[in-house]
Amino acid sequence: MAYQIAVLGGDGIGPEVTAEAARVLEAVGRAHGHSFVFEQGLIGGIAIDTTGNPLPDETVALCQRADAVLLGAVGGPRWDDPTAAVRPEQGLLGIRKALGLYANLRPVKLAPALLDSSTLKASVLEGTDLVVVRELTGGIYFGERGRRDGGRTAFDTMVYSEAEIERVLRVAFELARLRRHKVTSVDKANVLETSRLWRSTADRVARDYPDVTCEHLLVDACAMHLIRRPASFDVIVTENMFGDILTDEASMLSGSMGMLPSASLAEGTLGLYEPIHGSAPDIAGKGIANPIGAILSAALLLRYSLKLEQEARAVEAAVDSVLAQGYRTADIAGPQAETVSTTQMGQLIARHCSSD
Ligand code: IPM
Ligand code: MG
Repeated sequence: MAYQIAVLGGDGIGPEVTAEAARVLEAVGRAHGHSFVFEQGLIGGIAIDTTGNPLPDETVALCQRADAVLLGAVGGPRWDDPTAAVRPEQGLLGIRKALGLYANLRPVKLAPALLDSSTLKASVLEGTDLVVVRELTGGIYFGERGRRDGGRTAFDTMVYSEAEIERVLRVAFELARLRRHKVTSVDKANVLETSRLWRSTADRVARDYPDVTCEHLLVDACAMHLIRRPASFDVIVTENMFGDILTDEASMLSGSMGMLPSASLAEGTLGLYEPIHGSAPDIAGKGIANPIGAILSAALLLRYSLKLEQEARAVEAAVDSVLAQGYRTADIAGPQAETVSTTQMGQLIARHCSSD
């Protein structure tokens, strides 16, 4: 069967890493009897340059008729003018909203071969295997914002309905059932009203999952415990901005931002899959970016949108094998002198996928 995949490479290293993710999908497809039709769409800065709009209507339509979306990254210094009317990030936020992608899963698992690549001690990291479920279409990212006092006062608003909180909590509890049966709900209930609603909703939803332990943690304490005892977490669920911040922190548990994938899910099977890293304009076009975050995102695409679990595992196993053989892109090389390029890393992983 041929699957339709929308590919939104975006800016900076985005197109380079999504090309490797597509290569790996093709390889795993060949080995397991599936084919993929990739269709490219514009998003972010490149879409602004080409059409004036960071999220052209054709891109939304392309995603809506696809089985899944692979996304690279958006943004860069070229479009950083704070007075500009449109920004690349509006494309990303817009596609999340347009596709109803309210649950963003960011798994953080330490590749055994990279235990020494992190800035944290191996003894602290050992056994780390957690997923952050970040609410993605609400909160302060989408609340009312503006200026008053002739521009000298600015405001952003965090708004959450009980229904928005409940649906993402349910994703977290369902996921915990497939894992180690523990949910940590993260909020700032000692200060924020949205967090108090979040916490009481979590307590109510938790009653439907007596087999899952639910604990609450304030976001500041969570930031500390993430680097103090990362292995103790299973599923962490939190609102949009807290999740944004905590997942950059959590990415360092795996040694590099370049390693981490994400899945953004809606009701139904359409999902958007992107590495958690940004467009890294400083290294764009040099062929040195780490494509593993994008490739592991393709594994999540196989798992969640196409329901091809065996194929998803084949990709994850191929990544582990290539790392175990000692191949490294520059960001995870540590003191090791020899590194491989973005394309070489993609080819090595693809070769493993087609040979199993
Ligand atoms: C992320 C990014 C985005 C976000 C930016 C680029 C808008 O940091 O996906 O984590 O804040 O959601
Ligand atoms: Mg972020």
